[in-house]
Amino acid sequence: MERPDRTANVSNAKSPDRVPRPEPIPDVNEDRKSPHVDIRWLKDIERVLITEQQLARRIGEMSQVIQKDFSGREMVVVSLLSGTVMFLADLIRHLNLPMRLDFIGVSSYGAGTESGDLVFTKELRIDVRNRDVLLVDDILDTGKTMSRVLEKLKALRPRKIRTCVLLNKAARRVENVKADYIGFEIPDYFVVGYGLDFAERYRNLPFVGVLHEHVFKEVQKSPYRK
Ligand code: PRP
Repeated sequence: MERPDRTANVSNAKSPDRVPRPEPIPDVNEDRKSPHVDIRWLKDIERVLITEQQLARRIGEMSQVIQKDFSGREMVVVSLLSGTVMFLADLIRHLNLPMRLDFIGVSSYGAGTESGDLVFTKELRIDVRNRDVLLVDDILDTGKTMSRVLEKLKALRPRKIRTCVLLNKAARRVENVKADYIGFEIPDYFVVGYGLDFAERYRNLPFVGVLHEHVFKEVQKSPYRK
């Protein structure tokens, strides 16, 4: 099978720093090998795409590469709310580096599965001028969020910016943006769990799973939609 272009890319093309090297990205579970979905989730989750063990292993690998690329200077980790909660916590506990952490709140409006208009709900408080910044998000989908946030961050004149996402859904990209560090390339499924939501639900699942189609349909007409 032909694989998507996984060349590690620089988010900040003018940066004089070395670009992170491409690294092999593990495959997600195909249908037949897909692990069993726990009975608690069977009604809503069609199948497990990435298990807890696969997540832990991969995040350990990513943190080693990031640690090497950021060594020597204090880094600033900027994480996007809210989908990064689990990924961020697991990633930074493996980063044995001096670092500061801040968040940007950004959300696409509405409960649907399409990325809509972006609303900033929290601004950055740390001064990133002349700093080495790692921007962390849970999923790179259309790329609208990442490109808007990168635009904002670049205006603050950091020394370098690298982007890190747990999941990359290249098939839906509409903006010309790539991540420097990618956990998993995923097909165009609607995924939830491990921080990712549908209408603010399912963030607590310890794995990444594929949402059943019937769930979208029910939530679309539910009074509880966000
Ligand atoms: C999700 C996700 C990414 C963004 C990716 O955020 O967390 O930030 O969408 O989509 P895009 O590449 O199409 O822009 P969402 O707005 O759902 O907020 P959340 O993190 O609070 O779930």
